[in-house]
Amino acid sequence: MAGRKFFVGGNWKMNGNKSEIQSIVNSLNAAPLNDQTDIVVSPPAVYLEYTRGIISPKIRTAGQNSYKVAKGAFTGDVSPQMLIDVGADWVILGHSERRNLFGENDQLIAEKTAFALESGLGVIACIGEKLEEREAGRTEEVVFQQLAAIAAKVSSWDKVVVAYEPVWAIGTGKTATPQQAQEVHAQLRNWLKEKVSESVASSTRIIYGGSVTGGTCKELANEADIDGFLVGGASLKPEFIDIINARS
Ligand code: G3P
Repeated sequence: MAGRKFFVGGNWKMNGNKSEIQSIVNSLNAAPLNDQTDIVVSPPAVYLEYTRGIISPKIRTAGQNSYKVAKGAFTGDVSPQMLIDVGADWVILGHSERRNLFGENDQLIAEKTAFALESGLGVIACIGEKLEEREAGRTEEVVFQQLAAIAAKVSSWDKVVVAYEPVWAIGTGKTATPQQAQEVHAQLRNWLKEKVSESVASSTRIIYGGSVTGGTCKELANEADIDGFLVGGASLKPEFIDIINARS
C-alpha cells in the first residue's frame, strides 16, 4: 500500500453499444464509490466521447490502444491526441490481446507508451506471462523483459500504472491466487527499485488483471504490492462496484 492511491480500471474490450453503456453508466453513477480510488473505464474508442458525456466526472476514461505518432496513413488506428480530443485521460497499452492477436512487440509498445505520455495521457502498461512460460519457470524473466522495454523509453513515471496480467488468467476464470500475484508484484516493484529508483518503485501503482471478480477482489486487495485492478469481464457487471470498493 505505502500511500499509493488504489486504482481500478475497467477494460470493456470490444463489447457494448450505446444502450448497454447507458445502463452500465447509470449503475456506476448511482453507486457509492470509494473516493480514495482512481476509477477508469475503457470503452471501445467509438464510444469514448459518448461515455465521457454521460458518466460521472469522478470516473475517468481510457482508450484501449493508441499509436506512436499523432497522425498519418495508419488505417484503423487512433492517436493519443484523438483520445484526448474525446475526453480520455488514460490509455491501455501492451495488453496481451494486442501482443498475441495483433502482433505488437515490446519495442512498439514501448514507443507507443513514450508517445502517449509525451502527449499528456496516463498509460496503463500491461505485462504478463503465458501459461507455458510460467510452467517453464520463466515468469520473472518474461515480465522483467517486458517492463525493461517500457522503462527504457519512460522518462517520467508519474502517469504510469503497471498492470500485471498473467495471460493464463485473462478471460479464463482462473484468477491468480493472492500469493501468486503478490509474488510477481513484489518482484516488479523490486525491479523498479533496482533499475529505476526507490521513489519510482515506491510510488508506481502495480495493479493486477486476470479474472478479477467481486468474490476474489478483497483478498487480492489486501496484498501489500497489489495497488488495484484492471478488470475485463466483471467490469461490465454490477460486481464492478464491489471491485472498485475492494479497498475501503
Ligand atoms: O485488461 C483486463 C483484462 O485483460 C482482464 O480480463 O475478463 O480476465 O477480467 P478478465
